[in-house]
Amino acid sequence: MDKKTILSIENISKTYRNEDIQVPALIDVSLAIEEGEFVMITGHNGSGKSTLLHQLGLLDMPDKGKIILNDRDVVSMDEGNRTKLRLKYLGYIFQEYALIAELTALENVMLPAMLIGNSCDARKKAVEIFRKVNLEKKVNRLPGQLSGGEQQKVAIARSLINDPVIIFADESTANLDTTASVEVLDLFKKINEEGRTIVMITHEQEELKYASRLIKLSDGKIL
Ligand SMILES: Nc1ncnc2c1ncn2[C@@H]1O[C@H](COP(=O)(O)OP(=O)(O)OP(=O)(O)O)[C@@H](O)[C@H]1O
Ligand SMILES: [Mg+2]
Repeated sequence: MDKKTILSIENISKTYRNEDIQVPALIDVSLAIEEGEFVMITGHNGSGKSTLLHQLGLLDMPDKGKIILNDRDVVSMDEGNRTKLRLKYLGYIFQEYALIAELTALENVMLPAMLIGNSCDARKKAVEIFRKVNLEKKVNRLPGQLSGGEQQKVAIARSLINDPVIIFADESTANLDTTASVEVLDLFKKINEEGRTIVMITHEQEELKYASRLIKLSDGKIL
């Protein structure tokens, strides 16, 4: 079966500019992600991994180069339309969970569905996802009443609520112990086997075996 490219970047460059310093974080990088892949990005600190993930995830735009999602050029789009695309097609999981402290676990997961106007079945769907991540008993807790591993599962649940085409994860096991990390990775594996594409950054050698493809970055370039 032919695989379909769902996201590609072509000759992307990104330089961070602060007052008097310039950091070229990505230099002429091209990459195509196919449907169903489990891509892992590795590389030393400062090699440009998070910058690359931000570009792929449409969280930041390049200085030059193209980003194509589902055959649509994203760079020329206005920010409002990009935000809609992000909510509808993309899911994100960060190292620090990024949950809203005042909302319960369930409300955190429902939020992205409410934001795209899908409030009718948000609750039902959120509860189903909590079952999938084995956290259905803790839906009414606030993030501060959950362990790190549990908070990360809530973040994963939240990333799934709008049925994203691609899930991006930036070192999402870095704050977890071995047991919780394995649980999170097994969950990613399950989500990937259900057909969702995953692009994930890791520093952990033992996590690389989960990937269907490895991308190694060095000094802003893919090796
Ligand atoms: N907002 C910013 N302003 C200036 N420089 C930045 C900014 N963000 C990142 N950089 C620089 O860009 C380069 C790439 O950073 P990036 O965060 O992409 O690396 P990374 O591979 O994710 O590193 P780590 O493994 O430490 O997370 C680094 O030299 C970093 O210092
Ligand atoms: Mg990083």
